[in-house]
Amino acid sequence: MSIMKKRILITGGAGFIGSHLCERLLKDGNEVICIDNFYTGRKANIVHLLNNPYFEIERHDICFPIYMEVDEIYNLACPASPIHYQFDPVQTIKTAVHGAINMLGLAKRLKIKILQASTSEVYGDPVVHPQPESYWGNVNPVGIRSCYDEGKRCAETLFFDYHRQHNLKIKVARIFNTYGPKMHPNDGRVVSNFIVQSLKGEDITVFGDGNQTRSFCYIDDLLNGLTRLMNSPDDFTGPVNLGNPVEFTILELAQKVIELTRTKSKIILNPLPDDDPRQRQPDITLARKALGWEPVVRLEEGLKKTIEYFESLFKKY
Ligand SMILES: NC(=O)c1ccc[n+]([C@@H]2O[C@H](COP(=O)([O-])OP(=O)(O)OC[C@H]3O[C@@H](n4cnc5c(N)ncnc54)[C@H](O)[C@@H]3O)[C@@H](O)[C@H]2O)c1
Repeated sequence: MSIMKKRILITGGAGFIGSHLCERLLKDGNEVICIDNFYTGRKANIVHLLNNPYFEIERHDICFPIYMEVDEIYNLACPASPIHYQFDPVQTIKTAVHGAINMLGLAKRLKIKILQASTSEVYGDPVVHPQPESYWGNVNPVGIRSCYDEGKRCAETLFFDYHRQHNLKIKVARIFNTYGPKMHPNDGRVVSNFIVQSLKGEDITVFGDGNQTRSFCYIDDLLNGLTRLMNSPDDFTGPVNLGNPVEFTILELAQKVIELTRTKSKIILNPLPDDDPRQRQPDITLARKALGWEPVVRLEEGLKKTIEYFESLFKKY
């Protein structure tokens, strides 16, 4: 093992996944540099790391170039929930595309590995279930989700073109619905929404009839997948699905949250938003084979930890 610490750049390091990744990589003995413009990320997610001499934070928008000496890049910066990415769709697509170009340019100059946090949204409203990486997707290019879906698809294209054209070492993870402590309380994602509504005793809003399904991956499982991918042999680029293949209907999730929070909240049904996919489930055959990875945290266990986090958050404020 090398005695030199790796200097790892995480863009979007103050966000939900990024802040957990900062913690994990520091714990593994690396130096971590976090870049974030705090668009959706929060200081509170990383404040406990600020006294660590091996941690640095830089307020920066990745739509603009940046130069620094690092050994690896995890490119996570991008608003990820519909409420946030639809707030300023032009900024979203700029972050996905210009941000990717800037980070790929940095990786090319330094001749280092770069990992892209892509998304299951590249499959759009899929007609193939579960979704293998070979499925090209069913995406509306002009809808309200397109700034994110098409932005992330274009970023994947850029990653593969840099790989083919410049021999850059790339890793592309297609992340499926991930949840856990430090999710933004107001980002409208289904797990945080249901927990926040239950803890406040408000109605739990289910869109559509609630029979659409989702699969939920706990953050610790995802971190294992991302770090395994980064450390996989150079000839393994992905794209590789990282997510939990166990499916639940949205109604089942709502009922589980009600049970665990012991709330008196009632479920109410609201109209389904535009382009909301009916079903989303990762085929993780490739991740199992190439990375020896699969999720191990059961929904109930992950929900308990996430509920504890939101309870402590509400006690503070
Ligand atoms: N959470 C999920 O379920 C999920 C699923 C699929 C893909 N992803 C991807 O993983 C990554 C992280 O998602 P998350 O859930 O942690 O979201 P998040 O919103 O909590 O984190 C994103 C971070 O990026 C920062 N950011 C946004 N635009 C930026 C810019 N232009 N320059 C610098 N920083 C910027 C935000 O301030 C925030 O800290 C995203 O790229 C997202 O697309 C997440």
